Amino acid sequence: MKIEILTLFPDIFTNLLSESMVGIAIKKNALEVNITNIRDFATDKHHTTDDYPYGGGAGMVMKPEPLYHSIKSVNSENTPIVYFTPQGKLLTQDIVNKYSKLDKFIIVCGHYKEIDQRIRDTLVTEELSIGDYVLSGGEIPAMVMIDAVARLQPGVLGDIDSALTDSHQNGLLGCPHYTRPPEFMGMRVPDVLLSGNHKKIEEWRTEKALEITKKNRPDLLERFKLGNR
Ligand code: ADE
Repeated sequence: MKIEILTLFPDIFTNLLSESMVGIAIKKNALEVNITNIRDFATDKHHTTDDYPYGGGAGMVMKPEPLYHSIKSVNSENTPIVYFTPQGKLLTQDIVNKYSKLDKFIIVCGHYKEIDQRIRDTLVTEELSIGDYVLSGGEIPAMVMIDAVARLQPGVLGDIDSALTDSHQNGLLGCPHYTRPPEFMGMRVPDVLLSGNHKKIEEWRTEKALEITKKNRPDLLERFKLGNR
């Protein structure tokens, strides 16, 4: 799978692409990430990429021409184009799963106030948000998306079961996890996990996942009960 990133800050991505799971996905050729600097497509001699908003108000708006030309430089027919914005639909595991199966998609990283609405109206195919707070740009949300899809590429995680049992994959949060030693500072690993009884272990994990979801994300539990994810 190939992800095309359009950004004004290409260097932000450097470490992400060489470290940890994303680095592994790239080394294994399961993922290709291409970074394009939107500023390279500015049409004036000062390479301007933003301007004052029509109608007044604080903040600058990203100009349409550099965005248009940079998108066209990496676009092919029917390639999904994501724009990250606090106004977007909330990014969920279901959406990540959908993007992880594509051959290619484009992410446009905005900055300043927003990008010119005409680009959103004509080229962007989906607007996504990573939560109800405001970041200064779309680079961190883009990194979130790259990481989330990278780990789902075939051959990237040692044990694909590990991805399938993550929080959110079945609509619930995950259960607690323990590793050796069996006792740490007087705290023992629950006996059931040492019992070797896989049916009992599964029941315990489901019970804990339900408990944690009820406590931290009652909204998810309601949807889970309704079978409505
Ligand atoms: N850009 C700025 N804030 C954002 C957010 N919360 N989600 C996605 N993109 C953003």
